[in-house]
Amino acid sequence: MTTTFSAKAGSEAMRDAARSDPRKSPRKETMRSAFKMNSLGPMVSIQETQDLCSGITLNKNKTRHFRTLIFPQRQSHMPLASRCPFVVLTRDRTQKRMSRIMTALHHNLSLKDEIRDYWSMRSETFDTMPGHEIFSDDERRGWLELFARHLGDAQGGRALDLASGTGVISLLLAELGYSVTGLDLSEAMLARARAKTSGKPIKLYAGDAEDTFEASDSYDVVATRHLVWTLPDPPAAFREWFRVLKPGGRVGIVDVDMINPRPGNGKALRVLARLARKIANPPPPGAHAAVHNDIVSRVYFSTGCRPEEIARLLGETGFVDIAIDRNLRAIHRAQGRFMPLHQRLERASQDRFIISARKPG
Ligand SMILES: C[S@@+](CC[C@H](N)C(=O)[O-])C[C@H]1O[C@@H](n2cnc3c(N)ncnc32)[C@H](O)[C@@H]1O
Repeated sequence: MTTTFSAKAGSEAMRDAARSDPRKSPRKETMRSAFKMNSLGPMVSIQETQDLCSGITLNKNKTRHFRTLIFPQRQSHMPLASRCPFVVLTRDRTQKRMSRIMTALHHNLSLKDEIRDYWSMRSETFDTMPGHEIFSDDERRGWLELFARHLGDAQGGRALDLASGTGVISLLLAELGYSVTGLDLSEAMLARARAKTSGKPIKLYAGDAEDTFEASDSYDVVATRHLVWTLPDPPAAFREWFRVLKPGGRVGIVDVDMINPRPGNGKALRVLARLARKIANPPPPGAHAAVHNDIVSRVYFSTGCRPEEIARLLGETGFVDIAIDRNLRAIHRAQGRFMPLHQRLERASQDRFIISARKPG
């Protein structure tokens, strides 16, 4: 469930959003803007809230006996019919539990804000870096083949690119023939993406990959690159992606475990990378490296974004035909031509993969 600390602030924000852009009267637009304006995006998942609340009365009929402490968003505005209507806490016996909920809310809110700010800070230089932007036709072909292999034929279908960043993956999906919606937390990243994607069948919004506000059963494909490692609540995200996919729709997750070396020769490559770095003596990492490490230490995959764990969570969500593919060699070879040796070795030592899966039906 999505909750806010102030229902009033949320509704005022919605009214402001509606006033500021009367053309876009549909509720979804208004909600998007309200969430963006107030940072009232999803802070804690329904499962997490339900877990925290287990034993606490959620029964609407009994509200008169209790003091309502947390108001969720007005459910009538929300496309997610499955959401818990509200949370009601007893006055005296649940203080401890309430403080856990509040802590979780604060934690996720501030963490997501920090994640958004971190990427906004990096937006200016993001596309200058090999491994982010595509710098050769070889690499572009590599990505197109990879996505086609895992997601199937586009056939004019709809794709949702989560954490669309500066639009690199959205553009590839459009090239494959999808009509694309891209969502990202960071307006600064979205601004770059808008400049690159104008005239293409790509719509871009500020939004949260863990709670998209998209309609159920509406996408043929959900794709994402370099998002899952930074999610506070991947199980909630996967349930959300399952929900928005049409029956038979496919998810494609490209990511990297930056903490554990890849199976096989990963450890040896890591040693070589350290040696090469010492010899090359590159400038020390910028200030953003410390922010990055701090964020990593607090996300779900703080000990490493292991593909097997992602696959397990996808299976628990209900996905089938789950495949882990570590063969991104063509892409990495093409990217490596624009990187110094120590960086190539570092990246080769990391576990880089795509995981694809299908919603049954
Ligand atoms: C490493 S960049 C990847 C961008 C793009 N997917 C790509 O591969 O070029 C990570 C992006 O994830 C976005 N992001 C992080 N958490 C998010 C969330 N919960 N919902 C939506 N976007 C998120 C950041 O704003 C940032 O643009």
